[in-house]
Amino acid sequence: MSAAVGVTDVSKRYRLYHERNQSLKASVMRGRRAKYEEFWALRDVSLEVPEGTAFGLIGENGSGKSTLLKCMARILRPDSGRIATEGKVSALLELGAGFHPELSGRENVYLNGSILGLGKRELRSRFDDIVGFAGLEQFIDAPVKNYSSGMYVRLGFSVAINVDPDILLIDEVLAVGDAEFQRRCGDKFAELRSQGKTIVIVTHALSTVKEMCDGAALLEHGHLIEVGDAHDVVDRYLGDVFAPADGAGATTASNVERVELLDAAGRPASGLRTGDPVTLRFHYAIPDTLHEPVLSASIHHLDGLEVARPSVRVEAAGGPRGCVDLHIERFPLLSGTYDVTAALTSAGAPIGVPDRAHALRITVDRGADADSHGVVALDGRWETVTNEVAP
Ligand SMILES: Nc1ncnc2c1ncn2[C@@H]1O[C@H](COP(=O)(O)OP(=O)(O)OP(=O)(O)O)[C@@H](O)[C@H]1O
Ligand SMILES: [Mg+2]
Repeated sequence: MSAAVGVTDVSKRYRLYHERNQSLKASVMRGRRAKYEEFWALRDVSLEVPEGTAFGLIGENGSGKSTLLKCMARILRPDSGRIATEGKVSALLELGAGFHPELSGRENVYLNGSILGLGKRELRSRFDDIVGFAGLEQFIDAPVKNYSSGMYVRLGFSVAINVDPDILLIDEVLAVGDAEFQRRCGDKFAELRSQGKTIVIVTHALSTVKEMCDGAALLEHGHLIEVGDAHDVVDRYLGDVFAPADGAGATTASNVERVELLDAAGRPASGLRTGDPVTLRFHYAIPDTLHEPVLSASIHHLDGLEVARPSVRVEAAGGPRGCVDLHIERFPLLSGTYDVTAALTSAGAPIGVPDRAHALRITVDRGADADSHGVVALDGRWETVTNEVAP
């Protein structure tokens, strides 16, 4: 397989200017020499994105992901090193980049499309597809300065994919689209890949990287830390390596042998919805070395956030083995994918994050009246205040 994007020893340096807010007089007195510090946003980065694959760039804020993507898009020129791309490149970078706020959606489609290399005729013939995919028929003649951020990104994405690129570069922005649009983007990515196109995506949505990328690269302070299989690179970034059992059901962990998800009737469940009654059942074996054993469970969102770590003192009932249930009346987590792990420790011993090597992975679907954003359903009660006194 040949490389669609080849990055060789790329370094990019920025200057950080100090004393930016000094008066004009002060800068003149200093003889116009602004003081600055140089720092490397990218340092000797080399990687290859194979043709026809989806590739994720991940890493902490400020690690250099967007800088690298902009170098690939040739919006930035590296200070040293080379970037080679094979075929037509289309990029969706910052929100609204390439859009002119005073112009209408229609005018921006033509402007943006021609910047991305489409001729007027081609653009005319694709115009309806572009607007249709964005779902903006009604708003296409309004100035884009009145668009919401979601509308911006829909239009930008729609133009970027409709110029028929060989390589599509996407920075983050898709996250501002709603669930429905994200689903359609996912479908579009699958379609592009099946056509042998290459996609490079910068994102903090690690579950997306695992689901849709073949390869990934992890950046840290401008250095390439790891590149390879997307799952491995995400796991490296999350700090632990875990390989969950397929689907739901049962899993094993060192001294917690099995975690089960049960529905209200006590039957094994493969998934659940926010608000459902559910039981997590932990089967364990107590090693001789443990005194006053405590079982700690941990629930992680796939993106790495630990959302809960309930624990309980456990006993060995007539033998070294035991079983304990955690009943949850209304499961509070919103739709998403979570890993449940558990471990036994001695009472009073520090509880580390349980080993995620053997997680029970559960998929939560949206409940009947659950919120659609965030991590938990607060299950709160709204009440109109009628006798509010003005301050
Ligand atoms: N034009 C610029 N001038 C000076 N420094 C910059 C410039 N653009 C980015 N930087 C700095 O370079 C570093 C890398 O920035 P970059 O935007 O590539 O990070 P990122 O990995 O995309 O982060 P995030 O996840 O927050 O989007 C950061 O320290 C940032 O402050
Ligand atoms: Mg960025």
